[in-house]
Amino acid sequence: MYRTHTCGELRIEDVGQEVTLSGWVQRIRDLGGMSFIDLRDRYGITQIVANEGTSEKVVTTLSKIGREFVIQVNGVVKERSSKNKNIPTGEIEIEIKGLTILSKASLPPFTIKDDTDGGDELRMKYRYLDLRRKVVQENLILRAKMAHTTRSYLNSQEFIETETPVLINSTPEGARDFIVPSRINPGKFYALPQSPQVFKQLLMIAGFDRYYQIVKCFRDEDLRADRQPEFTQIDCEMSFVEQEDILDTFEGLTKHLFKEIKGIEVTEFPRIPYSEAIEKYGSDKPDTRFDMLIHELTGIAKGNGFVVFDSADYIGGICAQGCAGYSRKQLDQLANWVKRPQIGAKGLIYVKYNTDGSFKSSVDKFYSQDDLKKWAEKFNARPGDLLLVMSGNDSHTLKALGELRLKMGGQLNLRNNNEFKPLWVIDFPLLEWDKESGRYHAMHHPFTSPKPEDIPLLDSAPEKVRANAYDLVINGVEIGGGSVRIFDSALQAKMFGKLGFTTEQAQAQFGFLMNAFKYGAPPHAGIAFGFDRLVSLFAGLDSIRDVIAFPKNNAGRDVMIDSPSEVTKEQLDELGLRIIQKED
Ligand code: AMO
Repeated sequence: MYRTHTCGELRIEDVGQEVTLSGWVQRIRDLGGMSFIDLRDRYGITQIVANEGTSEKVVTTLSKIGREFVIQVNGVVKERSSKNKNIPTGEIEIEIKGLTILSKASLPPFTIKDDTDGGDELRMKYRYLDLRRKVVQENLILRAKMAHTTRSYLNSQEFIETETPVLINSTPEGARDFIVPSRINPGKFYALPQSPQVFKQLLMIAGFDRYYQIVKCFRDEDLRADRQPEFTQIDCEMSFVEQEDILDTFEGLTKHLFKEIKGIEVTEFPRIPYSEAIEKYGSDKPDTRFDMLIHELTGIAKGNGFVVFDSADYIGGICAQGCAGYSRKQLDQLANWVKRPQIGAKGLIYVKYNTDGSFKSSVDKFYSQDDLKKWAEKFNARPGDLLLVMSGNDSHTLKALGELRLKMGGQLNLRNNNEFKPLWVIDFPLLEWDKESGRYHAMHHPFTSPKPEDIPLLDSAPEKVRANAYDLVINGVEIGGGSVRIFDSALQAKMFGKLGFTTEQAQAQFGFLMNAFKYGAPPHAGIAFGFDRLVSLFAGLDSIRDVIAFPKNNAGRDVMIDSPSEVTKEQLDELGLRIIQKED
């Protein structure tokens, strides 16, 4: 028997028991006549002590062990003379009687501690060592708990967990596909699913009524803190439902997770139409933990001879409370921040609403105190506040203001990771114009239903058509998205037409789905939560990498297994593939 107890289990009540523990050596301290070992496993750390009474054999073995050796210890539980209140086992120690080295360890490339000295790259290369750290393990244990709680909730609501294939054809979710060549079908390729979208719809046509799956999805897109090329969705679909039923059910799941996992009652799920989210927050995923809403000034700030504003489509700004005292340097820093290519603004105008009621701005040449007062009224600003104003093309300016709002919210500590503010963004546009390809793209995906009252606009003003689509946003993170689906083959064919597919192309790619609609399709709708994002939100982390056991780095590489990598010429030949070197 390797162990009678784990390293996190023994307490003062166990004093006197003879026990056997196995684990990793966290630390050894040699204090002359006495030696202490911190023995670690997933469950905790227990102190092992050797003293003058320890046998010669044990002392000899002890002298050979080092950090991260795997050892087995047996001995008697004793009360400690100096207790450690910081750990649950801190009142006891094991007086060692026997010691076996189960596995030797080379010196690890970084210390296996919560506050490790290992850099990111090194920790990823030795991820199995990084995963020994308690803080990292806790994130993955949280993930496992959340998956379990999600399953039991959805099971209790009659959802059927169903697997769908991983080798499929392209699903049009807007990113690039990962392609897999087929050896037995030369010249043919599978694609890895960007989501199980079409399969879950087919399951509804099959009469499953309620489906879910906690499932890997694959998207070949540029990576960010909240994006991985392979990530996990809680993917769901329901039949005979309307938008309201989906919002209800998944508010239910979200509340249940908050309650069970974090012990928090989340009650409010306000709904904001997409257009309002953009106007007020400059984002379709607003962080509503703080106000600082965007206000438009186009009507009142134009026509004073300030060319930048006079030539702009849109002028608007935010009010940073209590920031009128910002120094020249702080204001310059903000202006430089918005001018970075990531934000792309041309400049930033400031108006200080001084505590004495006067105004000082970077456009004093063009605007009187009275003019600036009118601006301040628009923002409900008070003396001591700072207005930050930008202008230009409306969508770009709103987006830049949205980014600035988030930055100021962070700077003013208004984005507290222990506070959770969910909301639904609804009424998304169905289509968006893509300049590059010169055609409309589906904003969500091509299976999303237009709002019935907007269907007549499909021909006359496609960009005005709103979709029955919704996103769940929490603290500025898009946690989930879904829609009511088209379940009529004629309307689906029309949508493909709007998206620039010829009838033949639509038939070739989605004939199976349109055909399936002909055999009795129930009205259906669904949603998918980004599971990695949900877990990192619950863990209070900014990056989803920290809640994935073996994540990819920003270049899409797994540096531990050195993937992606080359394959042999034989493998390529077998697949009928040839590498053509790209010319620079
Ligand atoms: P959507 O494309 O909105 O919808 O994806 C659903 C959710 O998945 C998460 N997500 C990601 N998480 C990590 N890395 C990524 N690269 C990534 N991409 C997306 C987000 C997002 O809200 N089939 C539809 C759902 C439906 O209509 O039912 C879909 O996939 O949290």
